[in-house]
Amino acid sequence: MRIDPKGLGADDCYKLMTGVIVPRPIAWVTTVSDAGVVNLAPFSHFTFVCPKPPMVALSFGKKGDVYKDTAHNIMRSEEFVVHIAHTGQVEAVHQSAIEYPSDTSETAALGLVTIPSEMVKPPRLADARIALECRLRHCMELGDTKNRLVIGEVILIHADDAVTRDGKIETKLLDPLCRLAGPHYAGLADLITMKPIARTLKT
Ligand SMILES: Cc1cc2nc3c(=O)[nH]c(=O)nc-3n(C[C@H](O)[C@H](O)[C@H](O)COP(=O)(O)O)c2cc1C
Repeated sequence: MRIDPKGLGADDCYKLMTGVIVPRPIAWVTTVSDAGVVNLAPFSHFTFVCPKPPMVALSFGKKGDVYKDTAHNIMRSEEFVVHIAHTGQVEAVHQSAIEYPSDTSETAALGLVTIPSEMVKPPRLADARIALECRLRHCMELGDTKNRLVIGEVILIHADDAVTRDGKIETKLLDPLCRLAGPHYAGLADLITMKPIARTLKT
């Protein structure tokens, strides 16, 4: 099969690419609106993009003509918290993607407990194994769909002691929830562990 994306509409390109780029980590993001409403939604167009200072990138589509509440709130407040959900939280993650009105808090609607963050206004989920307090650093619009690419600096990391060993995150204990195409999610399969490679080739 050979596909020229120029011949595809946005929805078809979306379906194709979300089937190609798998599995995707999920950023489960809290933000706060100007009116003080706590918003929560999942985003799988998400990755780590810079180690020092640590930065993460997220891409937001639009709902109709307007940016999603999360993108709107980040543009206004410049602050957000990214949580890494575990597989046991799949139902809540999925339900938090419902497009609630902007004045409805998904954390309240879903009965999720939040606790104050230390460096940013959006609170963090009490039940999260990892929470990254982030401040907006860069933003740009992409393509015909005007997706908004947001890059945030991670200014504080909260890691539950139950998923750390010797200061490192234990992937199996973290048990991160991943997104596949369509309605499909996944957990981790068996890990494949390789010998470390030399950084430079010996000649
Ligand atoms: C697992 C998952 C991942 C998602 N990833 C994205 C994404 O990367 N970008 C996006 O714009 N929408 C994504 N969505 C859809 C948003 O979560 C959804 O539109 C949500 O209602 C946005 O909420 P908000 O308006 O409160 O920000 C995803 C949905 C799910 C269930």
